[in-house]
Amino acid sequence: MSAPAANAVNTQPLDLEAYEALDLPTLGRRVQAVRDTMGSRLLILGHHYQRNEAIAFSDLQGDSYKLSASAAADASCEAIVFCGVHFMAETADILANRPEQLERRAGRRIPVVLPDLAAGCPMADMADIDQVEECWRQLGSVIDLDEVTPVTYINSAANLKAFCGRHGGIVCTSSNARAVLDWALARRPRVLFFPDQHLGRNTALAMGVPPEAMPLWDPDQPELGGNTEEAIRGGRVLLWRGHCYVHQFFLPEHAAWFKQADPDVKLIVHPECMKEVVEQANVVGSTGAIVQAIESAPPGTRWAVGTELHLVNRLKEAHPEQAIYFLSPTIASCRTMSRIDLPHLCWALENLAAGTPVNVVRVPDAIAQDALVALQRMLEVSR
Ligand code: 13P
Ligand code: SF4
Repeated sequence: MSAPAANAVNTQPLDLEAYEALDLPTLGRRVQAVRDTMGSRLLILGHHYQRNEAIAFSDLQGDSYKLSASAAADASCEAIVFCGVHFMAETADILANRPEQLERRAGRRIPVVLPDLAAGCPMADMADIDQVEECWRQLGSVIDLDEVTPVTYINSAANLKAFCGRHGGIVCTSSNARAVLDWALARRPRVLFFPDQHLGRNTALAMGVPPEAMPLWDPDQPELGGNTEEAIRGGRVLLWRGHCYVHQFFLPEHAAWFKQADPDVKLIVHPECMKEVVEQANVVGSTGAIVQAIESAPPGTRWAVGTELHLVNRLKEAHPEQAIYFLSPTIASCRTMSRIDLPHLCWALENLAAGTPVNVVRVPDAIAQDALVALQRMLEVSR
């Protein structure tokens, strides 16, 4: 099958199966052909955890915050293809198609395409709207809800962001969680933080919130998430029992091993790691902060890095002048992120160019409107 002309008029989307039979050089040439034809009308965003072949064809690479801010800022492109996971595409849709941008473009929407719709985030799936509504209802029977700001990690479905928008809450990413929690706790005395307990706990501990003021809400427990009323009343940062499985492969003993094997090694980890790992780290930061710290370090620096494998391997290749080790002996890679392979990317791009876009992620207007409130609060706080 040959690449369709960019202006070909198709009525049926091209079939994915045919792409899976193609070799990588062919797929690469065809992806590049669509990029050349569409030029600045096409924006391909790539999260740092993506496979190399997706990163190689992305116009912009970054962490969740940088990519969201780019989707919010770019008014000139005609389509966004997101090499990331589902919540990232939803966020890009909400921000790129917010009312002021639609008005500026005379109503024209920017379709946001996720090349494989099965690229989700298992951590985001650990909190759903019914569970969060039920938690809120139960909390209301013990504490005054006017005292609570709901904060959702950006790794969450759009309807949870909308929940935060409706209840005076906000979104955070791993790069601005501290600023967001400072903002939230300056307004109201308590926060309900979901879905990542580790990001919430690590950030609140760094702010001086004591562990006993962070009850853990387990959505599978029928009463108060498994807590006593007293624990909830004493809570300042109520944490949701969710986690990123990728970052649970980094264990305290791995950190301790590196430290004793090489006392000068710098431990740099993502805040989705458990607190016993974070406590031993020299640097804790988002993927963007990890990239920046390593890029700006002097030659000869030795690092043990606790974050997703694709990023660490790319850092190793890009910085042969530094010694970069993977913190875990286990392969800690994000399987859902990796679903965006070259056949899916090529299939999605050629369909876009042919006028038969596939896998367009479109957040319903009512949800987008409330979610935007919480996202804009975040962009204000971390501007
Ligand atoms: P950041 O992009 O904020 O570093 O988060 C990492 C991550 O797990 C994305 O899913
Ligand atoms: Fe979700 Fe973890 Fe994968 Fe990020 S790395 S998308 S948090 S499962």
